[in-house]
Amino acid sequence: MTPYKYIRNCWYVAGLSKEFEPEKLTGHKIANRPMVIWRTKEGKVVAFDNRCAHKRFPLSEGRLMDDGNLECAYHGLRYNDAGRCIAIPSNSDGPIPPQAQLKPFPVIEQDELVWVWPGDPAKTSLRKPPRSPEIGDAEWETIDSGPMDVPANYLLLIENLLDITHFYPLHAGNIGDLENSRIPIEYEEGEIDGNKYIKTIRQVQNYKQPPYLADWFVYDVVDRHHTHCMMSPGFTRVVMRNAPPGELGTDKERGYVLMHTHTPVDERNHFWRWIVNCKKDHMSGGDPKMSAAKRVASTFPNVVEEDHWVLELQQQMFEIPDEGYSELFLKSDKALRRARQIFLQMLREEQTEAKQPQAAE
Ligand code: FES
Ligand SMILES: [Fe+2]
Repeated sequence: MTPYKYIRNCWYVAGLSKEFEPEKLTGHKIANRPMVIWRTKEGKVVAFDNRCAHKRFPLSEGRLMDDGNLECAYHGLRYNDAGRCIAIPSNSDGPIPPQAQLKPFPVIEQDELVWVWPGDPAKTSLRKPPRSPEIGDAEWETIDSGPMDVPANYLLLIENLLDITHFYPLHAGNIGDLENSRIPIEYEEGEIDGNKYIKTIRQVQNYKQPPYLADWFVYDVVDRHHTHCMMSPGFTRVVMRNAPPGELGTDKERGYVLMHTHTPVDERNHFWRWIVNCKKDHMSGGDPKMSAAKRVASTFPNVVEEDHWVLELQQQMFEIPDEGYSELFLKSDKALRRARQIFLQMLREEQTEAKQPQAAE
């Protein structure tokens, strides 16, 4: 299987709401679509093809004028926030050709995230962006990593996030150990708002926490409830609840809601962002003066670095033709296997419906 693809009829996170300051142009590439995205004077986030209709110059390198219109930096064509060209400086008297129009991309701003749909605009009713209600909620402290470039297809990250058994040896000594990778995995799948989800559930009692977990969430020995859920090809949600044995569900409970956004850039690159949410009044075990969210954010990058290393090297191996090689699937790979099947099914449906040439790109 060659995962050199991306689904376009899907919502992807372009960034956090706070990253889209009013009247500031930002350039992106999502599912091989160049996009210019900005927040208008009225506060609405808009997204268009980043290629100027004239000679493809990236509009994100232009500027927004006082009247809110975008001026291309090359020959000065001006566009309004509906993407229509409203002025051509070198031809101020002539009519504006009707094709001087930027292709718009649907945008939804929800729960402090900006989602864009790089696919067919007529298909947005198929599915909604997953929810992330903890971001911006007064009870929660939220810290995000910012976008991290990963030179690998985003399906590899999705599979990594659903693959619990890699906590040993990859994360041994920080969030994992051998015992961790042997915790039985329950499995659930379903559909929410048009998105098929895959969830793993791991429950364990009297469990000795790996070092980072005790450092973040206070207790050395816990009852633990841990879920990983691919909510869509753009978003994975991890929920961990820990408490002293017998005390899950009480106010002794500690843990996080850890969100991962995986946004494809093209076949071989994505950007990954993690967003950790902990209850505001929860202090960490390692430093009782430091909040749990800050403590997680200070050391979680060490874990991410290990996964980043794997994804990059895996991608290099995917570049080599299979020629008789086939991957081995273990019982514990059930969730990632289903995620891959769902992903490929979505891709097939998209290609069949739209007859778009994505497979050959
Ligand atoms: S390329 Fe933008 S105005 Fe010419
Ligand atoms: Fe990992």
